Amino acid sequence: MLRTHTCGELRAECIDQEVTLCGWVDSYRDHGGGLFVDLRDRYGKTQVVFGPESGESVLNASRALRAEFVISATGKVAHRPEGTVNDKLPTGAIEVRCSQLQILNSSLTPVVSPSQTELPGEDLRLKHRYLDLRRPEMQKTLFLRSQIVKKMRDHFEEHGFIDVETPVLGRSTPEGARDYLVPSRIHRGAVYALPQSPQLYKQILMMAGYDRYVQVARCFRDEDLRADRQPEFTQLDMEMAFVDAEDVISVIDSLVVKVAREILGLEVTLPLPRMTYDEAMERFGHDAPDLRFGMELVDCTDLAAQSEFRVFRGVADSGGKVRGMNAPGGGKHYSRKNIDELTEFVQNDFGAKGLAWFRVEDDGTLFSPIAKNFDAALLQQFSDRLQAQPGDLLLFVADVWEVTCKALYGLRRRLGAELKLYDPDTMHFSWVVEFPMFAFDEDEQQWAAMHHPFTAPRPEDLDLLDSNPGQCRAQAYDLVINGSEAGGGTIRIHDNEIQKKVFKLLGLDEAASQERFGFLLDALQYGAPPHGGIALGIDRWVMLFGKRENIRDCIAFPKTQRATDLMTDAPGKVGPKQLEELGIRIVS
Ligand code: AMO
Ligand code: AMP
Repeated sequence: MLRTHTCGELRAECIDQEVTLCGWVDSYRDHGGGLFVDLRDRYGKTQVVFGPESGESVLNASRALRAEFVISATGKVAHRPEGTVNDKLPTGAIEVRCSQLQILNSSLTPVVSPSQTELPGEDLRLKHRYLDLRRPEMQKTLFLRSQIVKKMRDHFEEHGFIDVETPVLGRSTPEGARDYLVPSRIHRGAVYALPQSPQLYKQILMMAGYDRYVQVARCFRDEDLRADRQPEFTQLDMEMAFVDAEDVISVIDSLVVKVAREILGLEVTLPLPRMTYDEAMERFGHDAPDLRFGMELVDCTDLAAQSEFRVFRGVADSGGKVRGMNAPGGGKHYSRKNIDELTEFVQNDFGAKGLAWFRVEDDGTLFSPIAKNFDAALLQQFSDRLQAQPGDLLLFVADVWEVTCKALYGLRRRLGAELKLYDPDTMHFSWVVEFPMFAFDEDEQQWAAMHHPFTAPRPEDLDLLDSNPGQCRAQAYDLVINGSEAGGGTIRIHDNEIQKKVFKLLGLDEAASQERFGFLLDALQYGAPPHGGIALGIDRWVMLFGKRENIRDCIAFPKTQRATDLMTDAPGKVGPKQLEELGIRIVS
């Protein structure tokens, strides 16, 4: 080793030891008589001092040091002079008085400085990721990631799961997003698809008798990106045979307890709260509700129908919904101008037509520009139903049910944070179950799988596949952490006939099913056991456990919102020879 210790290791007990540290110059201060360098590596920072006792040549050489130079410094560990001890730094009691200095490498002036607290634009950070990744914050997050993955692997090993790798080059079996395709050179015109998840391989492994499979699997989806979505992301993917939903949920429950305890020192009590999809949509307008705070949605369509307010009446009479919620303290917190901004927010981001509001005055009466359209008794009924207290703000959206869900869900998330309705350090884990099997795709005018086409209906809903698919519920379960979908899975169809029926409902006739999923339909006829599983979004777990706002901060080399890697400049162009070999002509 070129060093005897790391930069985070030395303490007062090491006084007078001769040590060698290696690392990056985090900062340097030239005080005329001496030069102070904070030397940094991933373990921490140590102050290295160059003074007259370092000798003239070392002192002179030290004057050439600049930020991000890589050096090796040898010297004695000494107490810091009185008054200069830094309690904030684990190494803050000591310094290394340098007697030998070796400059291992120089650095250009860093474009992104690992020691700066004001961060430059994200594009610059991503372009110079080698600098950005030196930031202690990034190193902490990637270390957390490695620990979380290790805990997960340990857990599944303890529970008898075996790790099996599945192919990255496969056949296109879309699961809801667009595929990333890889053209074949040998088979001109044919393409491989990168897996959106190892879904069918893990099912086949169950059919092959492996019983308990796990994999840290890379998944690829060409979809619209958001703060919690990447085109290339990682799942903790698992599958089990001879199980029902409770068995899968229970393996994940104990994982949640383990990770929360060992990573955050948090005791999570089981069972985790559970609600059905219908209940989640009714109470929160979304299938992954943030349960760290209340502020539930309340249906007031019946009251709205009795008002003179044309918007409310009109929507109620035409079969729409008028739903609202009570933002506690919102009446005091938000000015008229703020409420206009909230109105624009629900209009622009969620397609609502407007936002009706009432401020609860100190005497309990409701103030609003639209209040004149409601008689006093009716206002009181609104007030009672939303349990209004002085200082609150009541907010309503009148629209078709879907829009009320989206707009109020978005508003609830925003107001929950702005009104500080929860402690950002708490963690809330819950399950949402009994999702519908299908959602109607208006563009395609046909049913689409809510999770994926291999999901089994609840046994009691089997007949609904023929009579009323929209009402048919799946054996599906999503793990929700702090309002984020942190995992999702289902019990699978293991009966060839039911699988064919579901494909048919999804618009795949016999020939198309055979063409796309023939291997699955074949395998199902050779003794497929009942099976089910789940996949956890590792990148999201790191975001949630590491309290990061952005998924890109949880991945060493992420893609931008526009799916590019700014450091390597991918995707990039390739030469005509490569294209020719693949039989590709670019039409621009
Ligand atoms: P699903 O599509 O729900 O299920 O994905 C499982 C979990 O993966 C995470 N996730 C993502 N994370 C980052 N970026 C993305 N683009 C992204 N998409 C999904 C989420 C999600 O809950 N094969 C099934 C699992 C199964 O049925 O066993 C599947 O992939 O946290
Ligand atoms: P208007 O009559 O359009 O000026 O609207 C009066 C108030 O009702 C404004 O505060 C609008 O934002 C609100 N509003 C309009 N349409 C809706 C709607 N569909 N749902 C809730 N509030 C609405």
